[in-house]
Amino acid sequence: MAQQTVSGFRYANLADDLELKIKEGVYRSGEKLPSLRRLHDQTGLSITTVYQAYIELEKRGVVEPRQKSGYYVRPLLDRILPVPEAPKLKPVAKKVTMGTLAYSIVEDMSNPDFLQLGGSVVMPELLPFKQLARCIRSAPIESMKHSLMRYENPYGNPELKRQIAKRMVGQARRDAMEEITITTGCLEAVNLCLQAAGSAGDTVIVESPTYPWFLQLIEDHKMFALEIPTDPRTGIDLEQLEQAIGANAVAACLLVPNFHNPLGFEMSMEKKKTLVKMMAAAKAPIIEDNIHGELYFGNARPATLKSLDRNGWVMHCASFSKTLSPGLRVGWCLPGRYTEPVRRLKLNGTVASPTLNQRAVADFLKSGAYDRHLRRLRTALKNQISNMALAIARHFPKGTRITAPKGGLTLWVELSPNINGLEVYREARKRKISIFPGIICSTTGRYRNFIRISCGYPWSEEVEKGIRTLAEIIGQMV
Ligand SMILES: Cc1ncc(COP(=O)(O)O)c(C=O)c1O
Repeated sequence: MAQQTVSGFRYANLADDLELKIKEGVYRSGEKLPSLRRLHDQTGLSITTVYQAYIELEKRGVVEPRQKSGYYVRPLLDRILPVPEAPKLKPVAKKVTMGTLAYSIVEDMSNPDFLQLGGSVVMPELLPFKQLARCIRSAPIESMKHSLMRYENPYGNPELKRQIAKRMVGQARRDAMEEITITTGCLEAVNLCLQAAGSAGDTVIVESPTYPWFLQLIEDHKMFALEIPTDPRTGIDLEQLEQAIGANAVAACLLVPNFHNPLGFEMSMEKKKTLVKMMAAAKAPIIEDNIHGELYFGNARPATLKSLDRNGWVMHCASFSKTLSPGLRVGWCLPGRYTEPVRRLKLNGTVASPTLNQRAVADFLKSGAYDRHLRRLRTALKNQISNMALAIARHFPKGTRITAPKGGLTLWVELSPNINGLEVYREARKRKISIFPGIICSTTGRYRNFIRISCGYPWSEEVEKGIRTLAEIIGQMV
């Protein structure tokens, strides 16, 4: 039984001590805590008191027991710092002029000297390189000959489409599977859908903030972007969306409802249903980017808008870039009533996506290793985001806010209003750290005091040092 001390129960004091050490980063998210016996030896407290301390920490949601293994630090994704408020802005269609900033960010992404906290990329050590390489090497020579010497079916390798269709059971109506069209990454899928839905001068609705490459595509097609305020916890404001649809001729609504980049929210089922109905009533398509759909931190894969679509107004896009290989560039779309124009654009644009890459992904999916790999990847990303958020809370100045992602791999960080995220980006770049300045996630000039930090790295001293350096840069600007 716990004995009382001056400041309270001994078990509670020990629990407080361990919780503080977790917040200070001594014990990291996902890390195993000392055994009962070890803590008993270290502290001189009875095994029962140590056990009660762990039960207390479990109640507080700080640790989790694993059968026959002990207690582990539970990733903390909420309640670390306040979450940024939804932006207040008047939705107006705007011409997009993104400039060249995004290109230097892309260049840094392939520079091995940089600490990659900018591009939302998963580091190779978390991806199944060996199994994937085996799939490529072990292909019979006849199949290799086919891969290298022939064009693939313009709409995709049939085996790959079959494997994707299997994974999409429950994510699209059964008859929608016919729509699967393989693309070169998710961005090509979005680009094809955008071009099929609209043309120069048309208005495209996006979330605010949004994924910057959506804005670049809108700019390239000489379309207008109409940003709708988007809450970092719940997603796009449906009332304002409805008003915008009523007031503008909208060609498409381009959204990331599951684990938004940069905000990380998951739109509720109720909101998804309302959204799909609203857009069908307006006879305007939704381009749904579900690239992070498999990277959920909860218990189940979230519903797609496509699964709620009755009339073909949802154009669903995704890829394997965040879960398997960004380099193979294998993505897909289910373009609904726009399937024919999307396929025409695909055929005329590139004939087909590379045969070898599609076959490698198909073989990997067929091997059954994907689900096992995804389970490990989700756990790793959840721990990494938690460790990153805790490190930001430790080192960044008071007043910093961060999102509480439900999946994906990015944190959206709000700094004090006088800090210029672009300046932080430039200073960080000089020190070989890449981040995203928030300003490129909008056409409105908002988010000047925001940065996006990507959590694709396994946690290490180098990442902690990178966060400390960012904090110093920001600290000098306060
Ligand atoms: C929301 C979103 N869509 C599309 C992409 C690009 O995907 P891909 O590399 O498969 O073209 C990304 C990459 O970061 C993304 O975050």
